[in-house]
Amino acid sequence: MRNAELPWGVERQDTHLYTPHSTFRIPHYSSGMIALARKYRPKHFSDLIVQDHVAAALRGAVAGGRVAHGYLFAGPRGVGKTTAARILAMALNCERRGADGEPCGECDSCTRIWTGAANLDVVELDAASNRGVDDARDLRERAMYAASAEGRHKVYIVDEAHMLTREAWNALLKILEEPPSRVVFVFATTEPQKIAQSAAPILSRLQRFDFRRIGPHAIAARLEQVLAAEGLAAAEDAVRLIAKSAGARGAGADPGRRVRRAAAARRRAGRQGGVPARGPAGGCGGRSR
Ligand SMILES: Nc1ncnc2c1ncn2[C@@H]1O[C@H](COP(=O)(O)OP(=O)(O)OP(=O)(O)O)[C@@H](O)[C@H]1O
Ligand SMILES: [Mg+2]
Ligand SMILES: [Zn+2]
Repeated sequence: MRNAELPWGVERQDTHLYTPHSTFRIPHYSSGMIALARKYRPKHFSDLIVQDHVAAALRGAVAGGRVAHGYLFAGPRGVGKTTAARILAMALNCERRGADGEPCGECDSCTRIWTGAANLDVVELDAASNRGVDDARDLRERAMYAASAEGRHKVYIVDEAHMLTREAWNALLKILEEPPSRVVFVFATTEPQKIAQSAAPILSRLQRFDFRRIGPHAIAARLEQVLAAEGLAAAEDAVRLIAKSAGARGAGADPGRRVRRAAAARRRAGRQGGVPARGPAGGCGGRSR
């Protein structure tokens, strides 16, 4: 299912299933409310909070046609590494890209990438389950095939890149030494020091971005934005507590989960005669739009 609005009551989970080759992410649907996480997931570089330095550099590189062949996105969990990689893939392949390097977020190509629909030009690999040299050889062979159409870019997003073996890195090094045109690798990791240990030579071929931790203030501000956009109210204390606990758990900036928690907290507080509800009666507890 791509581009189409999901049927009411169906939610696209952010968990992913993998094909037997563990290559393509397959959206997985289950019943429940339309996920706020999906609704508020960034589509543009400018939607990324806290990572302005990364957003500005990538946007500039796209606009100026100076995109590197290999990137390393390092940083804590849930701070936007995979999201930024997808936005980069969207920007490179967008049918109506802005002069500033931002993807339009709406064209068929952007939508396919954003929704995680099977896509010839964007390949997401989880290194945790693709560790061996065979996979890297396979990757190498496939990287040799340029993007699917003139003007398109092939983007490999390798998550948990620190899990790749030395052999896998060696095979990747060969690709990065002579990268095919219009092929971009984005390695995302929470543990860049492990890559420095097992694959130092590769680091010199990658442009590195260090993603910042998203602190409780930024999380609270984002949460308040989403609550306002949803016409919901939550006690300031609840927002602060949720932001604090999300930060402590490294849950990053996923707003959907937190708004649901804010909604639940509000319902509990409401039952105790606490926080007044705004918006329709019964508001946020049921459907999320
Ligand atoms: N900087 C950000 N700005 C806005 N939303 C964000 C940001 N970072 C994360 N998010 C939200 O959190 C969700 C998870 O982020 P993402 O998967 O990109 O994190 P990650 O850094 O790749 O984490 P992990 O190390 O666990 O793979 C995104 O779908 C997005 O909704
Ligand atoms: Mg990730
Ligand atoms: Zn587009």
